[in-house]
Amino acid sequence: MRAVTWQGKRDVRVDTVPDPKIEKPTDAVIEVTSTNICGSDLHLYEVLGAFMTPGDILGHEPMGIVREVGTDVPNLTVGDRVVIPFQISCGNCFMCNRQLYTQCETTQVRDHGMGAALFGYSELYGAVPGGQAQYLRVPQAQFTHIKVPDGPPDSRFVYLSDVLPTAWQAVVYADVPEGGSVTILGVGPIGDMAARIAAHRGYRVIAVDRVPERLARAESRGVEVVNTAESAAPIGEVIRGLTDGRGTDSVIDAVGMEAHGSPVAKAIQQASSFLPAAIAKPMMQKIGVDRLDALYSAIDIVRRGGTISLSGVYGGMADPLPMLTLFDKQVQLRMGQANVKKWVDDIMPLLDDGDPLGVDTFASHILPLEEAPHAYEIFQKKQDGAVKVVLKP
Ligand SMILES: NC(=O)c1ccc[n+]([C@@H]2O[C@H](COP(=O)([O-])OP(=O)(O)OC[C@H]3O[C@@H](n4cnc5c(N)ncnc54)[C@H](O)[C@@H]3O)[C@@H](O)[C@H]2O)c1
Ligand SMILES: [Zn+2]
Ligand SMILES: [Zn+2]
Repeated sequence: MRAVTWQGKRDVRVDTVPDPKIEKPTDAVIEVTSTNICGSDLHLYEVLGAFMTPGDILGHEPMGIVREVGTDVPNLTVGDRVVIPFQISCGNCFMCNRQLYTQCETTQVRDHGMGAALFGYSELYGAVPGGQAQYLRVPQAQFTHIKVPDGPPDSRFVYLSDVLPTAWQAVVYADVPEGGSVTILGVGPIGDMAARIAAHRGYRVIAVDRVPERLARAESRGVEVVNTAESAAPIGEVIRGLTDGRGTDSVIDAVGMEAHGSPVAKAIQQASSFLPAAIAKPMMQKIGVDRLDALYSAIDIVRRGGTISLSGVYGGMADPLPMLTLFDKQVQLRMGQANVKKWVDDIMPLLDDGDPLGVDTFASHILPLEEAPHAYEIFQKKQDGAVKVVLKP
């Protein structure tokens, strides 16, 4: 089959690799019909290379048709249409019973002290072959699937793998009071969708970024926007100016570890991403740092007693945090990978033909899988209006 493979920093290729097959009774194999590129893939493309091996298959946002089913997957049939969540979870352990699927104790990557295994997301998350490919082996398939009806186009459901539940969890974790306000930092796919969901729930939403076409997308859906490139004042001051001097009740950080505006941490990340993996890996696991500009902005923006919800991925082990401010402002912080299946029943009613969240037109680019190298490049460089790319195998 053809698959998108990681080869090195900023180097992905489409290769011919062996077809996946059933390896365990709890596996299924799906034929992929749509598969997205995510902002999380950009971290592998840029700064997390030490945890990748050349040839690793990328991707964790696939959907398709079930082609083979293991003997222990009673609830899937060949021909079923399914979306595959980005995390692999058993559905029946201590953590899964609490709907903490990203912490599944059956798939936890204990060698690295990490939570549930993820598709296509480095050895830190189990080195599981990913879904930017023609076929995908799905471990723990009895639970790691979302059945969707035939009929509507893939665009209606494909974001259930990640964008929709991640944005939904970001908004729930932001704990916005009834009729309250939320600032969303970063309007990539996650921030954009979080803005749509927060607006749908009736909150006042202020979206912040510096990429004009991304802000225009948010604005066209009735959200207030602030372009940080257009104002010299710190973003906290700008938001306080819009909110009676207090800041918004909540802030969602949909940026993560590669924020603009953190020059020192950027230099450290870049230096370690050029080191041999044997040196970079232990270094990053002990003294790695993130580019914290967005998180620092969130701490400044949130009103006293408010909540910060982090959906942007962080990976530093030695990040300096302003504990004085966090403590004094009495900030509540929630974070983590999205527990995908926890939110599906809440989201499904919004994926009807009325399309209130605009999923059918959410992709900026739909490209053949063979064009993945170009797609990664324009998405990372924010060229050609790239916001969300769907690949078609
Ligand atoms: N928690 C989860 O389960 C989960 C799931 C998917 C993605 N993510 C993470 O969410 C983050 C966003 O993903 P995406 O797909 O939207 O990626 P993206 O890279 O397209 O979007 C990030 C946006 O943040 C903007 N930005 C950068 N620095 C900023 C700053 N200092 N202030 C304000 N905006 C800034 C960028 O211009 C960009 O538009 C990534 O870190 C990704 O890894 C988390
Ligand atoms: Zn993703
Ligand atoms: Zn489990």
